[in-house]
Amino acid sequence: MESKLARIVKTFTFRLALVYVGLFSLSVILLFVFIYTFEMNQLKTQVSDAIKMQYNYLIDEYKQSGTAGVEARIKELIADDDEGNEIYLMVNQKYEKLAGNINAWPTEAVKEVPFEKEGSWVHFRMEGRNLPLGNVNQDLTVRAITIPLSKWRFLLVGQSLQASQRVQQTIIQTFWGSLMMTLVMAFIGAIIMSRGFSRRINIINRSAHTIMHGNLSVRIPFNKDGDEFDELSSNLNLMLDRIEMLLGSLSQFANNIAHDLRSPLNRIINRLDAGLRTIEKDNPAHKLLDKNIREMRDLINTFNSILNISELEANTEFHTFETCDLQAIIGNLVEFYEPYAAEKNVALASDIAAPVDVYGEKNLLTQALANLIDNALKFTPEGGHIVISCERAEGSLDMIIADSGPGIPQEYRNKVFEKFFRLEQSRNTKGNGLGLSLAAAIARIHNATITLEDNHPGLRVRLSFPQSAGTS
Ligand SMILES: Nc1ncnc2c1ncn2[C@@H]1O[C@H](COP(=O)(O)OP(=O)(O)OP(=O)(O)O)[C@@H](O)[C@H]1O
Ligand SMILES: [Mg+2]
Repeated sequence: MESKLARIVKTFTFRLALVYVGLFSLSVILLFVFIYTFEMNQLKTQVSDAIKMQYNYLIDEYKQSGTAGVEARIKELIADDDEGNEIYLMVNQKYEKLAGNINAWPTEAVKEVPFEKEGSWVHFRMEGRNLPLGNVNQDLTVRAITIPLSKWRFLLVGQSLQASQRVQQTIIQTFWGSLMMTLVMAFIGAIIMSRGFSRRINIINRSAHTIMHGNLSVRIPFNKDGDEFDELSSNLNLMLDRIEMLLGSLSQFANNIAHDLRSPLNRIINRLDAGLRTIEKDNPAHKLLDKNIREMRDLINTFNSILNISELEANTEFHTFETCDLQAIIGNLVEFYEPYAAEKNVALASDIAAPVDVYGEKNLLTQALANLIDNALKFTPEGGHIVISCERAEGSLDMIIADSGPGIPQEYRNKVFEKFFRLEQSRNTKGNGLGLSLAAAIARIHNATITLEDNHPGLRVRLSFPQSAGTS
């Protein structure tokens, strides 16, 4: 079975929520890119400004006091640098150290030292332990400016970018943390939102399901002055009201026709009957008239069945319920159908040994069981057998009519309960396709169900009464 989460993931709302997660994550990414670029530029400018200040200071010193002055200033500056970020180096024309806190002129800087007043910027990496800060294990990037003070003196002033690297790392870590949080929160939000929507949709679906299964009076629950789901439910309910009304008037119309046609048909039959009595039996007109009268009686029976079913479907309460013994009813029916069965060479037997009491309407129960036995007898070919039995399971009491006939294919087992539906194979037998509809309407009144099963070969009709309806 599909898990609850899998069902949520498949919903439209969840997919919509995921789109929002994507957009939200994108905005988090853009925000961080902006913060990152801004902050990095800011730090770079700060470092450059600081380096330029010291570098100008040292150039002035060189102009005033020469190499010795610069050496002294460099020492002072190093001593003042508490954090150990600043880097100074003065070398001679052979790039040999004269003063400073790193030992060698960085190779990256050699090529980039044209004799320029403004100096040129260089970036290079150094092993942390070669830097004045000492105990740093990783390599650090250094930003520095180099300038030839004269033909024999070159100066390098720089700063390790440790601080900005730390800020950079913090921003990146915060970014991943926030992105993760955003994703988790958005995912949880998506599930909560989808569950909310699914719950509302399920209410509508459940009602639709009940309605589809024949209970057109069910309505979708909703709150007045509610949200758009309530508005949808209210509109669907109005639509159902209209459909129910139209169906009602349609079936009323059909019933009226059936009802109104019965009297004229009866009058015609009576007249034909009277005419028939005046005709000699060996007259061919007698046979013709007799056949017409019989067909008209069948027509009246069909009308009666339609009216019966409609009446049963419309009624929900019966006041004539009493305890009925199904064993006795079936015994009588078997006795009644026995001659037909014998004529057709079909074995008809009841396997019910003890009384089976059910609370219901005796005539209706007899009618339903008669229809089922009639079908079994009608569709079971010669030499076949029909057994009627009773099964008691927890919560139900089942009457089973099992025959050895052609059975009903699985795909038609619901359809045969529709009015006038008959299988292709049964077209040449007598009947209108109303027997099972009537039996089903009677079963519904008794809270019972009729299920069609395979009897291998043949059909097993199970008329199942809930145990509360079955006593004994
Ligand atoms: N025991 C059965 N074996 C095989 N097919 C059956 C059996 N019972 C019903 N059917 C099929 O279901 C159809 C509907 O049955 P239903 O009792 O409603 O109508 P009917 O028997 O054809 O006519 P009516 O009952 O109105 O005389 C039948 O036409 C037949 O095709
Ligand atoms: Mg029938």
